[in-house]
Amino acid sequence: LEAMGIDVWMPRTSAPVVSKPIVAAESVTEHVICEPDLHNASPTIWADLETEVATCTKCTLCQTRTQTVFGTGSKSADWLVIGEAPGQNEDEQGKPFVGKAGQLLTEMLRAIGLGRDDVFITNILKCRPPGNRDPKPEEAESCIDYLSRQRELIKPKVILAVGRISAQTLLKTDAPIGKLRGKVHDLDGAPLVVVYHPAYLLRSLLEKRKAWQDLQLAVRTVKESKEMEN
Ligand code: URA
Repeated sequence: LEAMGIDVWMPRTSAPVVSKPIVAAESVTEHVICEPDLHNASPTIWADLETEVATCTKCTLCQTRTQTVFGTGSKSADWLVIGEAPGQNEDEQGKPFVGKAGQLLTEMLRAIGLGRDDVFITNILKCRPPGNRDPKPEEAESCIDYLSRQRELIKPKVILAVGRISAQTLLKTDAPIGKLRGKVHDLDGAPLVVVYHPAYLLRSLLEKRKAWQDLQLAVRTVKESKEMEN
């Protein structure tokens, strides 16, 4: 459209956008329907979302946080990695998974050939719960819209739910993680694989084999999705 001299309007919402009529001298008036392509979302949409998160006061965690932790990595990644909530290190640095558990997560990703910049990493909560306690349901409820919008923009080929809280919140279930891992779930049309939290794996080395199996399952899921596209 740009090559044709037609303004391309980037959608700010998921509703189809109708551009204004193009009126050139002696040319025919035309209406161009631009289907929203959130995968190539304008940086403004991301910047607006990031500002909204950074200034959020929807729950009381805003009173105790050092800063929000929006997420890091590629905004067009095939992999969306979702943990539970920032801990102390994350709260201090403003980045997800940067402590000991984060180092193991980085290693786990490396084992399947992915760097942290190849994936997008974020959490259910964007603020640290004091004392690293579990997120309260009302905190998750206040925050979940930010994650839904990140999911919509990224359109990942697989979602990796890291740990029990992430899996149970996303899948809206109380089922134990042992029952949720080992299979591919559907989250609004996106495949979701559950993996044990690296903080748990640091304490339970015997479960590492299962985590490896789950990562392999996620790798196969992405591969199959790419094959279906071609
Ligand atoms: N644990 C999480 O679930 N997320 C982080 O960002 C860090 C630790």
